[in-house]
Amino acid sequence: MTKRWIPIRETPLDGGISSSIERNDSVQLVVAIRPAPVVLDRLARVSAHPEQPRIVAQALLLSRSRGFIASCRVETGRLLATLAASRTGTLAEIGTGCGVGAAWIYSSMRPEAKLVTAEVDQELAGEVGKLFADDDRVTVLAADWRELTKAAPFSLLFVDSREPKKAGPDGVVDFLEPGGIAVLDDFTPTTTWPPMYNGSVDVLRQSWLTDPRFATSDVMVTDDACVLVATKL
Ligand SMILES: C[S@@+](CC[C@H](N)C(=O)[O-])C[C@H]1O[C@@H](n2cnc3c(N)ncnc32)[C@H](O)[C@@H]1O
Repeated sequence: MTKRWIPIRETPLDGGISSSIERNDSVQLVVAIRPAPVVLDRLARVSAHPEQPRIVAQALLLSRSRGFIASCRVETGRLLATLAASRTGTLAEIGTGCGVGAAWIYSSMRPEAKLVTAEVDQELAGEVGKLFADDDRVTVLAADWRELTKAAPFSLLFVDSREPKKAGPDGVVDFLEPGGIAVLDDFTPTTTWPPMYNGSVDVLRQSWLTDPRFATSDVMVTDDACVLVATKL
């Protein structure tokens, strides 16, 4: 008995499904649900609601137009927005890139809060500055991350550049107010203690997770990425 698939709806719903009728030579009909490839692809890569605030969409457009692939993930962005909503004072970011992380923070920032982000690439900083030109609560610095000390202490700090990440807790502690939260992007999930990376102890992560000046958690944002969230005591 031969069977063949007769698609009755191939247009994927937004984040949804397509349907098919499996029919054999008898009159029996079997309805099956199978995700269209495009949906599977999206589901495999994004485990947060895929819709973005307008400012995030604008920053993503800028990323795409420049071929910039180092923007933070949707899941990390949503975590940043969640934390930003609880913060007053000055929120900050090290490594602006095309402004995606900054846009997520901005999307839920309290009216009385400010945001400052530093990017060493002057051209990038200029482009991102245009995205936030209408709101003087946001400053995009074309500067090395150390320049941010002038605007410190921060209530939230997204650390998304290699050098300050490598500097460990010592490099960041003075940027934060007591109770201030640092989010460090781009770690790889580990299930061991001590944490391992590439067959070796991840000394940097271990130093964050054991530093007595911080309460720190390793938060898995997707199955292949995690961030450190460290609150200054
Ligand atoms: C991973 S990307 C940042 C992505 C961005 N935070 C986001 O969420 O979309 C890292 C950025 O850090 C910038 N960067 C590298 N060294 C820096 C430094 N010393 N000071 C400031 N920014 C730096 C790079 O130019 C790059 O744009």
